[in-house]
Amino acid sequence: MTETPLTIALSKGRILQETLPLLKEAGIELLEDPSASRKLIFDTTREDVRIIVIRATDVPPYVQHGGADLGVAGKDVLMEHGAEGLFEPLDLEIARCKLMVAALKDAPPVSGRVRVATKFVNVARAYFARQGKQAEIIKLYGAMELAPLVGLADRIVDIVDTGNTLRANGLEPTEIIADDISSRVVVNRASMKTRHGDIQGILDKLEQAVAKRR
Ligand code: ADP
Ligand code: PRP
Ligand code: MG
Repeated sequence: MTETPLTIALSKGRILQETLPLLKEAGIELLEDPSASRKLIFDTTREDVRIIVIRATDVPPYVQHGGADLGVAGKDVLMEHGAEGLFEPLDLEIARCKLMVAALKDAPPVSGRVRVATKFVNVARAYFARQGKQAEIIKLYGAMELAPLVGLADRIVDIVDTGNTLRANGLEPTEIIADDISSRVVVNRASMKTRHGDIQGILDKLEQAVAKRR
């Protein structure tokens, strides 16, 4: 009997680029180059494993609802989505960055309601509530750094790595929300039970690949 292949969800961009070498060390190699293809499903050197390539923010819902058994997602994306229906058994220690609040350089404190532009609306809402600050959250899908420059927002909540994007736009970080963002393997809760052996085998090999790089 041939079982449905185990499906691993990755996102285009840095997660794909940085996860493929780890998967290779774990004995899973794509049969074609995903960046040179319009395909969304890729076979691998393991007949029982396939890879789907989706948007970063779609990895948690795909894995949660069983469209994929495993996935790799940034901790930022997982914080925003919530942990429901997901195991998070392994930190791949790739795509490291911080989740920060930023403002125009030397911006004065905001009295009253602070306008915050971000794609991380849940994270931002919870953060400002914890600080006891009233916030109006403005949902954007990218280029958050632009919002303070055109008067759309007083603050942004975004990913910061080198700080180059903030600096290039006359912004500076003001607060750290999370300094330990990296990409995590997430596993569907039902798959973890029904396909435990296969999944644990892959997790163990990935863990070894991660440990080798430390
Ligand atoms: P997106 O298309 O959603 O922007 P990315 O490939 O840029 O996808 O980001 C995927 C993940 O990589 C993010 O969820 C975050 O965890 C991390 N990341 C984003 N930007 C950076 C960065 N500049 N440096 C390091 N890691 C980053
Ligand atoms: C990410 C993030 C910031 C930038 C931070 O953008 O959204 O804009 O990196 O990195 P830095 O501190 O090193 O400048 P990305 O490069 O992923 O571009 P994107 O807009 O295509 O997501
Ligand atoms: Mg990005």
